[in-house]
Parts: sequence; structure tokens; C-alpha cells
Amino acid sequence: MRIELEHLTKIFPGRGRRNRSEVTAVSDVTLTIPDGMLVGLLGPSGCGKSTALNMISGLLAPTSGKIYFGDKNVTDLPPEDRGVGMVFQNYALYPHMTIEQNIRFPLENLKGDQKLTAQQMKERVEEAARTVDILNLLERKPSELSGGQQQRAAIARALVKLPKVLLLDEPLSNLDARLRLQTREEIRRIQQQTGITTVFVTHDQDEAMSISDRIVVMKEGTIQQTETPQKVYDDPANQFVAQFLGTPPINLFKGQVRDRILYIAEQPVLHTGELPDQEVVVGVRPEGFVLREDGAMKNEMIREEVSGRDTSILSRNPAAFSPIVRSILSNKEELLIPETVAAFDLNPRKTFLFSTEDGNRIRTELTVPSKEEDREDRHEGSKDERKEVRKEERKAEREFALAQEDIKKAREHTREAIRAEEKAEEGQGDQG
Ligand SMILES: Nc1ncnc2c1ncn2[C@@H]1O[C@H](COP(=O)(O)OP(=O)(O)O)[C@@H](O)[C@H]1O
Ligand SMILES: [Mg+2]
Repeated sequence: MRIELEHLTKIFPGRGRRNRSEVTAVSDVTLTIPDGMLVGLLGPSGCGKSTALNMISGLLAPTSGKIYFGDKNVTDLPPEDRGVGMVFQNYALYPHMTIEQNIRFPLENLKGDQKLTAQQMKERVEEAARTVDILNLLERKPSELSGGQQQRAAIARALVKLPKVLLLDEPLSNLDARLRLQTREEIRRIQQQTGITTVFVTHDQDEAMSISDRIVVMKEGTIQQTETPQKVYDDPANQFVAQFLGTPPINLFKGQVRDRILYIAEQPVLHTGELPDQEVVVGVRPEGFVLREDGAMKNEMIREEVSGRDTSILSRNPAAFSPIVRSILSNKEELLIPETVAAFDLNPRKTFLFSTEDGNRIRTELTVPSKEEDREDRHEGSKDERKEVRKEERKAEREFALAQEDIKKAREHTREAIRAEEKAEEGQGDQG
């Protein structure tokens, strides 16, 4: 079932005598959720996610705007007539009922031609329980289930009426870390198996990234960006989105554009393409720093940090928004960790410019300045030819690095061989 939100707005009136100011929880939200998709509604606490979801379910009436399920305008339909299944953060199972009774509950009050026989209800309950993999737990009480199992039971209860839309509001927040990972995989599997259009609300960017076909990033009641998770990460619409997604978070710097060169702390780091001179905010993903002896950005080294499979370098830059610049090394094999100065080239695909005024993305083609500016200027060839030359240069650099690596290895080999020989000689000396 395709869902369409048209200029959806929810304003809560001010409550009480002292707090009269109204709250615009959702502001002019227009969004299409294609049939069969899992969409993650992502944003910080209080940005209007639950309010938006509750309007889709029918629990809340919008102040203005329309909601369509397929071609049908459902804006004024009560929740029970919309064909939605809902799961909330707290499992909300009835504690005195068995899991089977809990899952069957929504079927018991069906009226008219929707009414089911006892046998039909039993089949439906078992089907839903099988989908979420709790068929063997039907006789138990909720208190006899783990948090993850309880949440799966809640999902079974939401699925039992065969809804066309599944709405999940922070369904994993009450689970511990390991169960959270497991249950989110489970939700993904259930969604793919049933093909049911699903809206998944979370404030956890990692969760949204891992589970969603599309992410809708919200801030203060408005949509900031709607894209696939990868695209939102690789191509953020603004500073808020760039900062909200990614662990460790993006590094921000004060920057200046002068004569189409981007400066950070007066160091020229990238070429900017056609762009007027201005102050900018520069965002660099942790994996966007390329450690090089002659790197363009020279930071004060703090220390190296190894965690799991990643090696990070923590450094300091006077133009950085935060006291620590965190970079994750991709080319650590080739390099010695610096002691005092950490010099980096910036990967232009991992570097974004934002307006200092409204945080919006400033789109321009960022490129790495050639190491030998003069030669490039003197080169008379076409742009393509120059590109080719640069490609060759990079290849040569890479080969040089590899060759150095080989030499290093060979030296180590030799040293080891010498050591082994010496040992052997010592041994012979002892004997003789
Ligand atoms: N019933 C309500 N009455 C008044 N204000 C509300 C009500 N529900 C939510 N709000 C306000 O609307 C904003 C969005 O809330 P909510 O949708 O719950 O955010 P989220 O789910 O993203 O954390 C918040 O500022 C919240 O305080
Ligand atoms: Mg909420």
C-alpha cells in the first residue's frame, strides 16, 4: 500500500495557564512512501516522529493536510478502518493473558463480514506467530518471555489482522544492545517476507541506516532529506543531516573560499570549482582524511587509537569546531603513525561545504590540488590530457609506495636472515 502525506501539519495548542504557546510538532510534511517499502523516520527526540506516525495511524487528527493510502483519502478515517498494525516502544502486551490470547485479541472484536470463526482465528494466530518465530511460546505469559520475544509477540499481534501498513514507533528502544541488533534483523526479515509497507520510527541513526530502504530525516517537525541510507550519508542535504548521520560523527571546520581554493586554518586544502569567495563550514567524514607526509591539512598530533578493526588518529586543528579531529585511517599499512604533526589530504568525496548562514549544502566540485601546481599551469594540454597525466602521477606514487613497502620487507627479511645466521653461529660456537 502506497502512503502519501500532503502538507501534513499538526499544531498542539498551548496547555495550561502558564504555557500558552502552541507547539508545531509536524510542519507541512509532504512525502510518498512507495508500496512495499520500509521507510525509517529518523530524527532527534521531539522532532515530531511519533506525531507523524500517529497521524498516519489515525490516532491523531492532523491540523491540516491530507493522508492517502493508495488512491484513498483516509484523513478522516478512524484507526480501525485504515488497516494499520502498530507496535510501540513498550510492548504493551496484556500481562494476564497468554501470548496466544494476546495475539488473538485484535481478531475477537471483528464485526460483520470480517468476523472469524475460532478455527480461522487459530490459523491466523499461528501464521503470525510463525512469521515472527515464536510459535513455541504461545502458551506462555508475557513475563516468561525475553524483551526481544515480547516485542516479536507485539509485532505478531500487529500482523494478525493482515494490515496493509505496519507502523513501528521506536520498537527496539527498550531492548539491550545485543537484542536490539538481533530484533532489528528480525524486523527486516519479517518486512521483506510479508512485503508490507512499513514506517519505522527511531532516533538511532545506526538503526535507521541498517534497516531502511529509505530514510526520512526530520528536524523540528520538518523533513530535511529523503533518500536511501547510503545516499543520505554520502550526499547530505545540509549540516544537520551530515552531523546526525555517521559514527564517529563528521568533523566540522571553519573554512574560507578564496580564489577558488578552500582554506582551513589558512592551509589550502582543496580546489572548489566556481564559487564566490566566502566563509563556509567544512565537514569531513572521519574516513575522508588521507594521511600523507606532505598532506595539505597539518594538524597537531594527539594520539593514535586502535579499536577493533579501525585505527584512528586523534589530532587538533585550530579551525575545528571540536577539540578533537577524529580520522579513521584507510591506508594504515603504508604509513608510519606520525609523532607531532598529522598531515592529511582530504578526500573530496568525503568533504562537504555548508553555508554559515543556514547550514544548507553548498554544492560545488571539490578537487585535490596537484602537488606541483607550477607544472600543471605550464602544461599546455587539454583538460582530459591533464587528467590523464595526473592519473599517471597517482599511479606512479602508488607504485612508489608499494616499492618502498617491498624494500622495507626485503630489509626486514635480510635482517632476520642475518639474525638467524648469527644465532646459528653462536650455537656452533657453544658446541665448538
Ligand atoms: N499531546 C501533545 N500535546 C502537546 N504537545 C505535544 C503532544 N505530543 C507531542 N507534543 C510535542 O510535539 C513535539 C513532537 O513530539 P513527538 O512527535 O512526540 O516527537 P518524537 O516522537 O520525534 O520524539 C514535541 O515538542 C512534543 O513536546
Ligand atoms: Mg516519539
